[in-house]
Amino acid sequence: MSRLTAASAADFVLATSDHAFAVDPYPDFATLRAHAPLCRQPDGSYLLTRYADLLQVFGDPVLFSSDKRVDFKPRFGDSPLYEHHTTSIVFNDPPYHTRVRRLLAPFFAHRVLRQMEDSIARMVDALLDRAAERGTIDIAQEFATVVPLNLIGELLGVPYDERNPLRAWANAILGALEPVRSAAELATGNRAVEDFKAYLRTLIARKRANPPGADAMDVLWALIEASEGDADDADTLTELEILHNSIFMLNAGHDTTGSLIANGVDLLLRYPEQRARLQDEPALIKSAVEEMLRFESPLQIGNRRTTAATSLGGVDLAPGTFLHLGIAAANRDPARFDQPETFDIARNPNKHLAFAHGIHTCAGNSVARIEARIAFGKLLERFPRFERAGPTVRPHRSRFRVVESLPVRLEPAS
Ligand code: HEM
Repeated sequence: MSRLTAASAADFVLATSDHAFAVDPYPDFATLRAHAPLCRQPDGSYLLTRYADLLQVFGDPVLFSSDKRVDFKPRFGDSPLYEHHTTSIVFNDPPYHTRVRRLLAPFFAHRVLRQMEDSIARMVDALLDRAAERGTIDIAQEFATVVPLNLIGELLGVPYDERNPLRAWANAILGALEPVRSAAELATGNRAVEDFKAYLRTLIARKRANPPGADAMDVLWALIEASEGDADDADTLTELEILHNSIFMLNAGHDTTGSLIANGVDLLLRYPEQRARLQDEPALIKSAVEEMLRFESPLQIGNRRTTAATSLGGVDLAPGTFLHLGIAAANRDPARFDQPETFDIARNPNKHLAFAHGIHTCAGNSVARIEARIAFGKLLERFPRFERAGPTVRPHRSRFRVVESLPVRLEPAS
């Protein structure tokens, strides 16, 4: 039930939203969309919740900038976290953004991704084999994030037995982006950036000494090779830029895809009739994954900053205004989706914004979609009667739709 009312909607403050909002933000998003669609925050920023407004913002990267130097300087100072976040593709505008995107694009081509399907399927099977011996699995901790972490490890050519620290590094670096962080958490984040960079440098040195074969799917090595030619070539990256964008790919692709898989399992458990339909009609897996992305968007809130005075949804915005983009709210906007609060695995059309829109549209969206289709397909095929063995636990996070724990019994208790 929404705790906000038509009268109180305009007073909603995202930075101090409570745990109940983190667990189920959708009723409040509906009230905001209807009564305060551009909700002014105490620091002068705005929270946007309507689909049409988000589409306009995502579609105009000149007026709505992704450059975060102004925001991150006071927060991170001159630190490894500042260096990392301001060098990664997602927090930059053209022309730097265009250069990185052009270099990454070949690795996300459909033809290349098809080659990864077999290795994803093997990875998922191995995880499920181990879980089958135990009979239960925590979907969040032992499945949903393990698949993407290993996949990105593979993409970057990180040897299997060296992938252990990746998750803690990624969590520390991404965690530093939450609105309220302690000095200790920032210190952990800074150490993680330095450790990660040092590790990647040793990895690159080993690759130089022993180059991967021409047919190896190794993004890190390919970026290094592509950038070792002409130093004046506008289409190359420095080593530091390669390191930070490799780190970013791991961060961008592991929590988000883990969230899609964990929330998807949670949805199948909450909506048994939709699950039964998917089991009867496995060809619906494609549209089912799209509906999971719409209904429980892994990145719930994005952001931009205006570069000039403008007007949006009837509200005048000064230059430099920070905008919180309520992706999860827009994805349930009744002005865009029929019966938006209904989880319908056959929904069509379903032009959700879970991967954003425009020049920053998620570069890894096809990877995430393939991973999710294989993960759900295997789980349902091998354990058609899996059932909940405990509650879905969510941490107090509002920007990412995180599942901390979701215990599942693979065969029903007899
Ligand atoms: C379900 C999983 C995922 C979701 C929901 C997701 C969501 C997003 C969103 C919303 C953005 C745009 C942010 C903005 O415009 O401010 C983005 C950007 C990005 N994502 Fe993903 N992502 C997912 C998985 C992945 C994976 C698996 C990878 C890589 C292997 C990846 C790589 C990237 C990159 C490189 C960008 C930056 C694109 C740019 O700035 O041009 N993502 N993602």
